Amino acid sequence: MKILGICGSPREGNTLFLLEKALGACKEFGAETELVHAGLLKIAPCKACGGCKDTGICVQKDDMTPIYDKMKVADGILLASPVYMGGVSAQLKALMDRTRALRIKFELRNKVGAGIAVGGFRNGGQETALQQIFNYFLIQNAIVVADEATSHYGGVGHGYNAGDCEKDEYGIKTTQNTARNMIKVIKLIKGETEEEIKNW
Ligand SMILES: Cc1cc2nc3c(=O)[nH]c(=O)nc-3n(C[C@H](O)[C@H](O)[C@H](O)COP(=O)(O)O)c2cc1C
Repeated sequence: MKILGICGSPREGNTLFLLEKALGACKEFGAETELVHAGLLKIAPCKACGGCKDTGICVQKDDMTPIYDKMKVADGILLASPVYMGGVSAQLKALMDRTRALRIKFELRNKVGAGIAVGGFRNGGQETALQQIFNYFLIQNAIVVADEATSHYGGVGHGYNAGDCEKDEYGIKTTQNTARNMIKVIKLIKGETEEEIKNW
């Protein structure tokens, strides 16, 4: 089972920290994981040229190019973003838009998707950023999962300066629960029964 984690922050801060926690949990449950720090890569926005419409292949060649294959082979995709103006970062949004190419043939159909969002202490927007991530997965016909243990939608981090989320117990907990639920749902899709997975 392969889980791909994509970090949409342009720095090595809270989002990366929580995504690493999530992927650590996935590994504990036996998954193979890979992290792509998209926020540090050069991924241009979609140009709306329509070049992908017949082929399913984006005509722009940049750091997005190898990510298509990573997304195609993943069983689960975790999108992690800092909250920027109540939504996801521009860096993550550019990646999401560029996967219009994968939607041509619905290449993300029935993959399991989940989200992690980190916002400052006194602001907000984690849930609206997560909602944006969920809409993305639904548009791709993927299956959305959340944190099964709390009422939260997914990984919900509170932190402003890089390093803050190391003390954010709730963020770590919701993130790890979300990762666990992602693995569980993938196992069910792959044919394991509730009985087989109930004790972990
Ligand atoms: C352009 C920008 C917009 C932001 N907008 C919000 C916001 O709407 N709500 C919020 O809670 N925090 C907001 N923040 C704060 C970040 O979400 C916060 O610092 C977060 O920890 C960044 O994650 P990182 O450490 O992974 O980069 C914003 C930060 C930036 C740079």
